[in-house]
Amino acid sequence: MSFVSQDCALSLLATILLLLLTSQSSCASKKTHTHVNSVDFLSQKFEVEPGHVANMFYYDIEFPKGHIGIKSVKAEIVDEAGKSIPLYEAYVHHYIITKYHQRKKVVQNTTALPNRWIFPHKDYVLKRNSGMCQKEVISHFFGLGSESRGTRTEIPDPYAIEVGNPKEIPQGFEEKWMINIQIIDLRGVKDEKGCMDCRCNLYNVTHNEEGLPLPPTYKGGFLCCYHNTKCQLKEGFEGAKRSLHLKYTVKWVEWDHSVLPLEVYVFDVTDSVQVSSNGEKGPRFNHNCLVEYEIESCNNITTHKDDDDDGCLHVKKTRIPFENDGYVIYGGAHLHFGGVNATLYGQDGRVICSSKPEYGTGEEVGNEKGFLVGMTTCYPNPGSVKVVDGETLTLESVYVGNTSRTGLMNDFTLLDLDAIGCKSLQDKRGLFNLFLSTARVTSGFLTG
Ligand SMILES: *[C@@H]1O[C@H](CO)[C@@H](O)[C@H](O)[C@H]1NC(C)=O
Ligand SMILES: *[C@@H]1O[C@H](CO)[C@@H](O)[C@H](O)[C@H]1NC(C)=O
Ligand SMILES: *[C@@H]1O[C@H](CO)[C@@H](O)[C@H](O)[C@H]1NC(C)=O
Ligand SMILES: *[C@@H]1O[C@H](CO)[C@@H](O)[C@H](O)[C@H]1NC(C)=O
Ligand SMILES: *[C@@H]1O[C@H](CO)[C@@H](O)[C@H](O)[C@H]1NC(C)=O
Repeated sequence: MSFVSQDCALSLLATILLLLLTSQSSCASKKTHTHVNSVDFLSQKFEVEPGHVANMFYYDIEFPKGHIGIKSVKAEIVDEAGKSIPLYEAYVHHYIITKYHQRKKVVQNTTALPNRWIFPHKDYVLKRNSGMCQKEVISHFFGLGSESRGTRTEIPDPYAIEVGNPKEIPQGFEEKWMINIQIIDLRGVKDEKGCMDCRCNLYNVTHNEEGLPLPPTYKGGFLCCYHNTKCQLKEGFEGAKRSLHLKYTVKWVEWDHSVLPLEVYVFDVTDSVQVSSNGEKGPRFNHNCLVEYEIESCNNITTHKDDDDDGCLHVKKTRIPFENDGYVIYGGAHLHFGGVNATLYGQDGRVICSSKPEYGTGEEVGNEKGFLVGMTTCYPNPGSVKVVDGETLTLESVYVGNTSRTGLMNDFTLLDLDAIGCKSLQDKRGLFNLFLSTARVTSGFLTG
């Protein structure tokens, strides 16, 4: 698997977002921001047709300019008339918004950039979030999936994610943003959930986007639903081509010292951390986030059937050392359907943030039956939830294990598989990773 695919993939699956206040500046006033700007932007339009996957990469997107503090980013799919499109027509696999610095001398013709992840690149330098994954993997600042409409993303005052700080933009470069959007047009598909899980057989895909054969053990995942692939339709279904946009709404404040900067950390439950020595500087932690993972189903297990909800759960955990100090200001997870919850624990077992999905029950946009339409988020009282340098955090994600899901990575090993009530596992299933991101705040809550 190439890094490129891995990067793109990461965008997708499961995320917990935590915003962490880490800086040590003293006194900050807790004034509220009276003037919050809010602007709706539309991505370039892209075409889809029934079953079709659009995986779009747009560089130098419209984004608020200047030295500002982002308070919220939300997005949804709309058609050309601006009408919201439900998930059962256009499933939002994910969107991610990533920061980079572009060399000024580079001719700015963004339409000439390929429709793919271009990083690493000498003229377009990715500026990743504060952690936790390696290199360009899971590097975005903002991004969600099907839960986007129903998930709170506002960062409380006086905090914000600082962008456009001229001191952080090297000479000869400009700060830019790119967006990656992956949509699956579910109109008329034979197996909605299978298409959402990117099952290779439904896409009739045996080779990856670069034309290399996928191992037979790879049953599904992002390698099977790349741009322009098509999921199997019901016999005889016909539907029109349509153009869609991602509408993204950005809220921000002008930067000044009353705003406390948060840093964004995203944790991936597939991250396996290797420790190496860094000489005098002590241990170095090498992350290896895989983005997607696979579980096996316990479909045919008869034990625990009396309690359907708990009868068959899959729990995945990973331990991740944290190398900063800070207070959690915001947190939330990204899971795919079937997700039960995702939780970040401190070294002493305390819950730092636990986030749960909400499933739709109707037809209307934002409440699509059976879809994961929202995630709960954490807003601890600022100053009440602290993580410390050197603390080993545990990230846990729980999925129901009873329905068949697609396997994802062939070389994917299950770590810390701890299947409650699932003694004999059969049938590979796909699961998603779980990211947890924390943002850091500098502030008056910290002493010293
Ligand atoms: C930008 O690139 C596109 C695609 O390569 C090309 O068609 C177009 O003419 C270019 N525009 C400019 C202003 O160079
Ligand atoms: C699936 O792919 C194979 C090989 O590319 C092709 O021969 C076959 O017609 C495809 N089947 C469908 C249903 O598209
Ligand atoms: C799996 O479990 C969930 C939650 O208990 C339930 O809603 C769903 O119908 C089950 N699916 C199957 C195939 O048993
Ligand atoms: C996550 O869900 C499982 C299954 O319902 C439950 O046992 C567990 O307590 C939940 N975790 C948290 C932190 O709420
Ligand atoms: C479950 O059991 C049925 C009947 O014994 C069998 O046909 C099916 O293949 C089994 N499913 C899995 C996932 O093993």
